[in-house]
Amino acid sequence: MDRQWWHGKTAYQIYPKSFKDGNGDGIGDLRGIIDKLNYIKQLGIDILWLSPIYRSPFIDNGYDISDYQDIDPQFGNMDDFDELMTKAHDLNIKVIMDLVVNHCSSEHEWFKKACADPYCEEASYFYFREGKDGRAPNNLRSNFGGSVWDKVPGQENLYYCHFFAREQPDLNWFNPRLRQRIYDLINWWLDKGIAGFRIDAIMSIAKDPDFPDYPPDALGDGLCACGAMNESCNDVAELFLKELQEEVFRPRQTFTVGEVFSIQPENIEKYIGNKGNFSTIFDFEARTALCHHCAYYAYEKLSVAEFRDALFKAQQLSNEHGFLATVLENHDEPRALSCWLPAMWQNPMGAKALGTIQLLLRGIPFVYQGQELGMGNTHFNSIYEMKDLQSFEEYRRCLNHGLTDSVALGVLNAQARDHARTPMPWDNSLNAGFSTSTPWMRLQQDYQQINVKSEEQDRCSVLWHYRQLISLRHNDNFKETITYGRFEPQPNPNRHTIAFRRVTDKQCLLVASNFGENPVWLDCGWQARTLLSSGEHQLKDGHLILEAGASAVIQIY
Ligand code: NOJ
Repeated sequence: MDRQWWHGKTAYQIYPKSFKDGNGDGIGDLRGIIDKLNYIKQLGIDILWLSPIYRSPFIDNGYDISDYQDIDPQFGNMDDFDELMTKAHDLNIKVIMDLVVNHCSSEHEWFKKACADPYCEEASYFYFREGKDGRAPNNLRSNFGGSVWDKVPGQENLYYCHFFAREQPDLNWFNPRLRQRIYDLINWWLDKGIAGFRIDAIMSIAKDPDFPDYPPDALGDGLCACGAMNESCNDVAELFLKELQEEVFRPRQTFTVGEVFSIQPENIEKYIGNKGNFSTIFDFEARTALCHHCAYYAYEKLSVAEFRDALFKAQQLSNEHGFLATVLENHDEPRALSCWLPAMWQNPMGAKALGTIQLLLRGIPFVYQGQELGMGNTHFNSIYEMKDLQSFEEYRRCLNHGLTDSVALGVLNAQARDHARTPMPWDNSLNAGFSTSTPWMRLQQDYQQINVKSEEQDRCSVLWHYRQLISLRHNDNFKETITYGRFEPQPNPNRHTIAFRRVTDKQCLLVASNFGENPVWLDCGWQARTLLSSGEHQLKDGHLILEAGASAVIQIY
């Protein structure tokens, strides 16, 4: 595998609306991010991913873009963006943007022109299809519920396709002129100095242009989740992705991370590594194991062993071929502590032990804002405190399924995307130091204790642990092993421990976290020393003895 600048780096995701409000309107913005760049630098971050800041009507919080080459006024303007780039550059932090090109917004001028004249050039940028027998062209269900089809305004029997909200019309990648316009806007941003992109929902571009019907799935509304079409058309996506990679990204050495779910193991080389269509893709193996049901109410929490098996499966898959982007949290998921850990470790100890695993696995770790503080889920008191359109749809699914209001709320309190979107807690003052006015979304209830200021003052905090983990990744003595070392599972003595080794010809590191109730003994030989730890442990009689809730990184000679 060729060496690349981004190998060994650590990335941080910002959800701009919830990170820091710089102008006092209750909404996070670019000025807020600029103010906090030093915080990000101190954490040790090399790459910053900004969720969308483009002009948008915010139906899906910016993932519905009405102008790809403008900044939404809620976030500031292009001067603010340029200033952010300059300051990030001075701090040696690379910036990547979100690239959302499976769909745009229904407010984008392309879509407006298409609706005004369904035979114009722009109409061919979308999937416009005639209805069948007075119904939509096929029976696919959008990711946010209901048919993927809605009528083109003013038309009797003409529909447009949207795999997400109806305000997010899908772009027709079969059209080479549309693809060229997308490449132009990508190059425009690269010319502005960004280092690359996180590529949104990219496998959704895999479409069958005939739009056949699919067998209805378990939700019982006669529809089938649109992902079924994507899975059956992967080879179509492959053609588009190859062109994108060869014509746009590879010549400019752009760093790309694909939002790609459930890859087939035999196809891994198509995604990552020297021949891959992305630099890396997120490891969603555990997420996929949790979410393969058609509604939140059917999700069942994974045990530590199941979670570990999913992580290890992805590691073994990528070992030979390239790097996955390891991820515990993002803006679409509940907080990792609440999602992956048993109740007894949903606390700072658990947060540190989980962080140890992620930051030492082989791959490019992406830390999500607030993860480094050990934030857990929010206790939403009512559906009205939530903001996300998917939460409303899942609530409706719960009620249709016969659940009571309070059980439905419980389901969302476990699974909703809103958990990741509460304002970043900077201190314990009013509005958690996020804004001088009421934030657009409620605060997480623990902000008085779990906030940046308190954790900066406490050397035993989750924040300091993350700083140490990232600094270990940068340490010249261990960088090579942490970046390129092979991943090898440590034979595990019980179901509550996650333990593995990172190995090169010259060095061996043992990494372990104990999420059980009792100490665990792990074989490490007589010659070993601790590089970093959380909780209590001992090196004794050729073993690492890890107390409950502890984690350690051990060098084995
Ligand atoms: C994935 C994004 O991460 C999510 O937030 C968004 O709703 C969908 N793609 C649609 O863009």
